[in-house]
Amino acid sequence: MKNSRLVSLPSLREAARRNPDTVLPRERAEIRPTAFLVSWGQEKLFCIRTYGCQANVRDSEILRLFLLQLGMKETEDVSNADFILFNTCAIRENAENHLYGELGRIKASVLKNKAFVAVCGCVMQEEKPVQYLLEHFSFVSLLFGTNNIERFYDLLERALKGRGTYVDIQSQPSSLVELSSRGKEGRLSPYSAFVDITYGCDNFCTYCIVPYTRGRERSRAMEDIVAEVQCLKDNGYRQVTLLGQNVDSYGLDKDNKHAFAELLEKVAKTGIDRIRFTTPYPSDFNAQVFDVMAKYDNIMPSLHLPMQSGSDAILKRMNRRYTRAEFLDIVKLLRTKIPDVFLTTDIIVAFPGETEEDFQKTLSLVKECQFDGAFTFLFSPRPGTPASRMEDKTSAKEKHDRFDRLKNLVDKLSTKSARKMVGTRVKVLFEEVSKKDESMISGYDEHGKLVHVKGDKDLLGRIEEVDILESHTYSLIGKIHGQG
Ligand code: 5AD
Ligand code: SF4
Repeated sequence: MKNSRLVSLPSLREAARRNPDTVLPRERAEIRPTAFLVSWGQEKLFCIRTYGCQANVRDSEILRLFLLQLGMKETEDVSNADFILFNTCAIRENAENHLYGELGRIKASVLKNKAFVAVCGCVMQEEKPVQYLLEHFSFVSLLFGTNNIERFYDLLERALKGRGTYVDIQSQPSSLVELSSRGKEGRLSPYSAFVDITYGCDNFCTYCIVPYTRGRERSRAMEDIVAEVQCLKDNGYRQVTLLGQNVDSYGLDKDNKHAFAELLEKVAKTGIDRIRFTTPYPSDFNAQVFDVMAKYDNIMPSLHLPMQSGSDAILKRMNRRYTRAEFLDIVKLLRTKIPDVFLTTDIIVAFPGETEEDFQKTLSLVKECQFDGAFTFLFSPRPGTPASRMEDKTSAKEKHDRFDRLKNLVDKLSTKSARKMVGTRVKVLFEEVSKKDESMISGYDEHGKLVHVKGDKDLLGRIEEVDILESHTYSLIGKIHGQG
């Protein structure tokens, strides 16, 4: 601790005490390294470990671009890297513990190689983990958060020029920064790109740490998003996924209730082959969004719509702004407008105070909605959130039993949904060579279902018709249409 340079420490309380009415200034920023950084970076190897959601993946791509522009090269091997960055996730406790395990494992090689270690992302926005890192992992040279990644060069230079751990974590974003680069630079895939449309979240679901770690909700300007998609298309990209913690509230911070539908339509009109978006908030949807989805072939017929619970009492305690009946109405409307839509969801099991009766309501809503897939999570108390202070009497055994019962149901539905695809023809965007078997190429169909076919690298980046031959719970096996 005594060697640390603490410019600014996180405060969850300050992060929660925000005024969404104040308009954040929009800023344009160039990605311009100093001569000092360029000479430091030449030929050095960097390794980025990213945990958590797509927002973190996108942030890591931006940081990757910063590093590539210093003349650095990327490596997958942490033990060989001169610069190691952990971009962390705070959503559940196990993601946080994983970080400490990783730091413990690399300590010896870091000290031996004199590697520079930086940690950023959501965990760094919390007070206790930052203290813990400073006390237990003093070999880490730089800690920063989610609200100042665009200042990365400045932070790195300050950290390199001094001793000890340099800590600069902003509890609130001070502006909405548009970086000058919005094309393919830094991105991990040459075919499929994430495009941020909103940052942060103002919903304050009682279990969730995100509104504290990613700040107040702010929407990028529509013209900046559309220009980014156009630029990606011009660079050969086939697919964009519009990203936000709560995409369908896009523009609500500017009092425009129809902004998401308008944005979706403008993005569709760029003519890029495939558009997806994640994650919507059920009751922020308006029918106009579904109409736009139905109207444009390049908006994919799949939706990830987090339900969280099927019990009204629990939804209320979660501070979700919809009831079971309203959720079902949204699903029905969606299925009327887009009959072939694939619907997936997120569900939390054993939220504090959840009774067997509440849980049965979750099971029955899952059956009624006939999801094509679902992510299921055991409730994980996040320090600082209201749910972490709620009374929780359910035994660990009961919690795991509920989790297993739900997982069984969800897997059955996924298997059934996948089986329906056998004998059909789908269009697949091929994105990678299978890690297990080099003769298999993998991609996703329009519904977002993972499809593997025998083939070679020539398929990568192409959209091809595939006949589905076999189904598994999480994937499909097919062959390119017309091939023997
Ligand atoms: N415990 C368990 N699951 C959580 N999620 C968010 N916070 C928690 C928590 N504290 C789940 C929600 C959300 C998904 C991304 O993670 O289901 O939709
Ligand atoms: Fe968390 Fe709720 Fe915001 Fe999703 S909508 S990020 S669950 S607070």
